[in-house]
Amino acid sequence: MKINLSTKICKTKLRNPTVLASGILGITASSLVRVAKSGAGAVTTKSIGPVKREGHKTPVVAVLENGMLNAVGLSCPNIDEAIDELKKAVRNSGVPVIASIYGKTASEFGDVAEKVSGAKPDFIEANISCPNVEDEFGKSFGCDPKSSAMVVEAIKNKTKIPLIVKLTPNVSDIKTIAGAVEDAGADALSAINTVGPGMLINAETGRPVLTNKTGGLSGPAIKPIAVRCVYEIYETVEIPIIGVGGIQTGNDAVEMMMAGASAAGIGTGVMNKGIGIFMNVCNEIEEFMKKNNYSKLSEIIGKAHE
Ligand SMILES: Cc1cc2nc3c(=O)[nH]c(=O)nc-3n(C[C@H](O)[C@H](O)[C@H](O)COP(=O)(O)O)c2cc1C
Repeated sequence: MKINLSTKICKTKLRNPTVLASGILGITASSLVRVAKSGAGAVTTKSIGPVKREGHKTPVVAVLENGMLNAVGLSCPNIDEAIDELKKAVRNSGVPVIASIYGKTASEFGDVAEKVSGAKPDFIEANISCPNVEDEFGKSFGCDPKSSAMVVEAIKNKTKIPLIVKLTPNVSDIKTIAGAVEDAGADALSAINTVGPGMLINAETGRPVLTNKTGGLSGPAIKPIAVRCVYEIYETVEIPIIGVGGIQTGNDAVEMMMAGASAAGIGTGVMNKGIGIFMNVCNEIEEFMKKNNYSKLSEIIGKAHE
């Protein structure tokens, strides 16, 4: 039986469902192109913001048995430098490129989206997990349906490039946020960003391990949360979903697609297993499909809802 691993996000075809998640290999074109050449179906940049920003002081990452805690912070080069790299990645990667962006206000999101559009990425992905400085409590955009919708409207007013909105799992009802974002005009969703914040304390020193004290949890430990979020979102919206969170094997990707994802984002898995993970996950999906008599991904996507 011939196995077809291609999938679609909106009108864009991906040769396979694996996607490099945002933030894992930075913004440089050479890293993104290397991941594309190693087999990823699409690649995402680290989130690009309006101004140059240093990240948090090291240590910014703590490796756990079953995941990772990170407080990298939204470090970002000057936006013009980031856009030059994005242009090179779009030209040379041979796969769809997703430009992740962030802002401190909805209108900043719109401005960054407009600038980034000049590089003609296939998608813009709005990272709405960052704090909204106009919210009286500085809550993240992604925790509030109105603020999330405002970000979508601000971006949609400035660009025609299809918009993916990346949701945070750190909310009491992700369905409400997903619905608000779809109603405001988002073309696709990505779920989830890191879980938390969490904290680790070094018992020897009696101090938090991360300089920032807290950080977001990623990796295999969060996969059940990501699968649950994707499952709930799939029941709420019509737009496609990129499932992200803890994917390290073909089986993990299949689970995420059965929950309703059209593609599978991989972040911490790249740090744990190297860039060969994209090819390995694809081979494992193919083996699974052969063994279980599936010939195309549309037979798997959303299967858990039947
Ligand atoms: C070191 C690190 C940096 C990240 N930076 C970003 C970022 O800039 N923008 C973003 O939307 N998500 C960022 N993320 C979140 C990942 O894209 C992903 O949503 C999350 O880690 C869950 O997937 P995983 O378990 O496969 O890592 C980052 C994650 C890690 C571990």
